[in-house]
Amino acid sequence: MEQTLSIIKPDAVANQTIGKIIERFESNHLRIAAMKKIQLSQTQAQDFYAIHKERPFFNDLVQFMISGPVVVMVLEGDNAVARNRDLMGATNPKEAEKGTIRADFAQSIEANAIHGSDSLENAKNEIAFFFKAEEIL
Ligand code: CMP
Repeated sequence: MEQTLSIIKPDAVANQTIGKIIERFESNHLRIAAMKKIQLSQTQAQDFYAIHKERPFFNDLVQFMISGPVVVMVLEGDNAVARNRDLMGATNPKEAEKGTIRADFAQSIEANAIHGSDSLENAKNEIAFFFKAEEIL
């Protein structure tokens, strides 16, 4: 059993597609082990995406992630990291396979509806960034 971190980004929260996205997880045997709606601060967004700080899109990414509330979740299930990535689809929704979350709900590579951890190691760090152990049930 693995755990992974998922973030429903400000575009999908503003578009009222939280429920439709969560339905994708639950109907694909990913259990919601923790969930909260939060407004990221600039510092939190910079820290969360620190791995991208040298990339040309970093400042825009941070501004986008603080443009409105997000929903952060811990998803749990067999092979959760990879299965969540499959459900999400490619980072750029124009390249995302039909039927994936990004193909169906994202608008652009920046406003791409959802974030998901890309490895088990990053999942552990990203989960710890947002949740205390006792908040994960
Ligand atoms: P995410 O999975 O949250 O991880 C980093 C984010 O940077 C990515 O999704 C995209 O939303 C965002 N981003 C913006 N521009 C680019 C780009 N040119 N290449 C990759 N990611 C980008």
